[in-house]
Amino acid sequence: MADDPRLILPDPVPVHPKLDGRAEIGRGEHTIVLEGDVINGQPHVLKVLSSPTDYAYYTAADRPTGAHFPVVYADLGEAGRSSRGYPFHIVEVEKLYPLPLYGDTAELASKLCTSYLAACKMWHTFAQDMGRIALYHLTVTPMGWTDAMLESLQALQNFINEYSALPDLIKADNLMMRRDGTLVFSDPVFMG
Ligand SMILES: Nc1ncnc2c1ncn2[C@@H]1O[C@H](COP(=O)(O)OP(=O)(O)O)[C@@H](O)[C@H]1O
Ligand SMILES: [Mg+2]
Repeated sequence: MADDPRLILPDPVPVHPKLDGRAEIGRGEHTIVLEGDVINGQPHVLKVLSSPTDYAYYTAADRPTGAHFPVVYADLGEAGRSSRGYPFHIVEVEKLYPLPLYGDTAELASKLCTSYLAACKMWHTFAQDMGRIALYHLTVTPMGWTDAMLESLQALQNFINEYSALPDLIKADNLMMRRDGTLVFSDPVFMG
């Protein structure tokens, strides 16, 4: 959820046969998340996206993939227009879970957020480029990331450059996890 309730997307769930009757389980500044079906034992959710950058993050042919990125099952098409001025897009993705307060995954998430924030402070004079440079800083400074995490940060960096997006790693609720404890970048970008 967004920290400030005034920023949360105020729209009703758009009318669409795929969304009808589904429970809302999450909502942020740009996205509504609805409970999906459980398929082969794997719970799915439907993300109703109002941000073109988020839509690209979930569906572009060159979107980042790998252990730390959400699994996407289907692009279910458009569903009207959001109050943010863009069409809503429905994507079916794996259900993820909030981070616990303690443990390895929580520590990794906290290291990501605090190092990103520290790099933002270091590079704040770059104004609108600060976030991009801070993320780059995380990929070139030895910080003990696993190979998979370093590759994920680089993939995120590539996506951000390609789509003129900005990283959104300060809010810990944009990081979630799988049941097995793998950290997942569930909402790491916003429109630049
Ligand atoms: N794959 C998911 N599975 C379950 N809940 C999710 C998933 N993705 C997001 N959420 C929940 O929905 C909220 C809003 O989603 P998010 O992708 O962060 O949207 P926004 O772009 O509006 O910030 C999140 O804070 C989280 O609680
Ligand atoms: Mg978010």
